[in-house]
Amino acid sequence: MKKNVLIIGAGGVGHVVAHKCAMHNDVLGDICIASRTQKKCDTIIESVLRKNNLKDSSKKLYSRRVDAMDIPSLINLIKETQSEIVINVGQPYINMSVLEACIETGAVYMDTAIHEDPDKVCENPPWYGNYEWKRKQRCEENGITAILGIGFDPGVVNSWCALAKDEYFDTIDTIDILDVNAGSHGRYFATNFDPEINFREFKKVWTWNNRQWMLQKVHSIRVDYDFPVVGTQPVYLTGHDELHSLSKNIDANSVRFWMGFGDHYLNVFSVLSNIGLTSEVPVKIANGVEIAPIKVLKALLPDPASLAPGYTGKTCIGNFIKGTKDNQERSVFIYNICDHAECYEELESQAISYTAGVPPVAAAILVARGDWDVKQMVNVEELPARPFVDLLDQMGLLTEIIESPASFTPPVIESLESV
Ligand SMILES: NC(=O)c1ccc[n+]([C@@H]2O[C@H](COP(=O)([O-])OP(=O)(O)OC[C@H]3O[C@@H](n4cnc5c(N)ncnc54)[C@H](OP(=O)(O)O)[C@@H]3O)[C@@H](O)[C@H]2O)c1
Repeated sequence: MKKNVLIIGAGGVGHVVAHKCAMHNDVLGDICIASRTQKKCDTIIESVLRKNNLKDSSKKLYSRRVDAMDIPSLINLIKETQSEIVINVGQPYINMSVLEACIETGAVYMDTAIHEDPDKVCENPPWYGNYEWKRKQRCEENGITAILGIGFDPGVVNSWCALAKDEYFDTIDTIDILDVNAGSHGRYFATNFDPEINFREFKKVWTWNNRQWMLQKVHSIRVDYDFPVVGTQPVYLTGHDELHSLSKNIDANSVRFWMGFGDHYLNVFSVLSNIGLTSEVPVKIANGVEIAPIKVLKALLPDPASLAPGYTGKTCIGNFIKGTKDNQERSVFIYNICDHAECYEELESQAISYTAGVPPVAAAILVARGDWDVKQMVNVEELPARPFVDLLDQMGLLTEIIESPASFTPPVIESLESV
């Protein structure tokens, strides 16, 4: 049985991972949270203790400082803390160095977002092929369990695709992943997770449509959908991590991702991008200093973790899946509802961080028990879905399913460019 968890990254998602690991430390053992800024780790530990979420007080919960780009330091940290499971919830720039340290030490690796090179945005698909999958063979040779993209989306939505394949469909035609936040944080403008990473998602839209990659303009294709609980909401075709593995691992004609945006968000975003403030390309300012505008914007916008107190409303993330079962057409909507205020009450968090942070802890428990300790690199849809979905139900993320839901009908998507 694997034990002792090293959490890397003390942001909004790291906060939830630390709470949930502490709530299950009878299975997971000692918990260390490490980030560039140790103070942020200590603030999270204070929150865990304030909420009385440390289940077994004989186990350690402690912090360290680390620069996760420094592989030898990471290797030392994994050894010193005797961590057999590493949950990487830092910025996606650090994925490859954390993965390398896990391969060197034999620790299990998990992350919740695809690796990114700071100088490249929305590279050619499939994105995993540019970085993580190049280490597949080494993971296999070294018996390393590496679970990629185990947040909510990517993460739970991938597992729902496996669940659909295993239990609901003989053939799958389309999978539309719909992500809507119908909550209100009361600020003029904010992103729910790292603004830098968030805005990098909105440069190009790569989508898997009719078994080919197609390129679309950002926020150019809208569908209004009648969601359970949160009602009718506009969603826009968006590029996203999970398409880059689901297109390979799930036999479906189309796999697309749609994200909800209100008019106010789109107006502000459009002004910011039109004047160049969302750009990652450095500009030189009057005193000769070079800076990427998006880094200035990040420094100005609210820290996503600070949105949690007073956040109201709910998120709904779901997979609208169409296909056949026993030669009959079938459609299902598999979804979760998460309430911002309830997340604050339980963990002093908000629903976006909560939905992203609970799944890697469920995965860590499945690995610790041996069920998911597969000793190779996998995306989530390659793992058995049922034990994961059932465990999430008990950990605060309930999966619900509607048979024959309101129909989701996107317009015909034509390619600007295909690969
Ligand atoms: N799959 C999903 O559903 C989902 C949803 C939301 C977010 N995410 C992903 O989850 C991750 C965390 O998101 P978040 O909202 O928590 O972000 P965040 O608030 O910006 O936190 C990121 C943390 O990473 C730390 N970090 C960055 N570079 C580091 C380095 N070189 N060494 C050590 N620590 C480093 C930062 O350190 P310091 O602050 O200490 O300097 C920060 O605490 C991101 O990859 C995001 O894309 C996934």
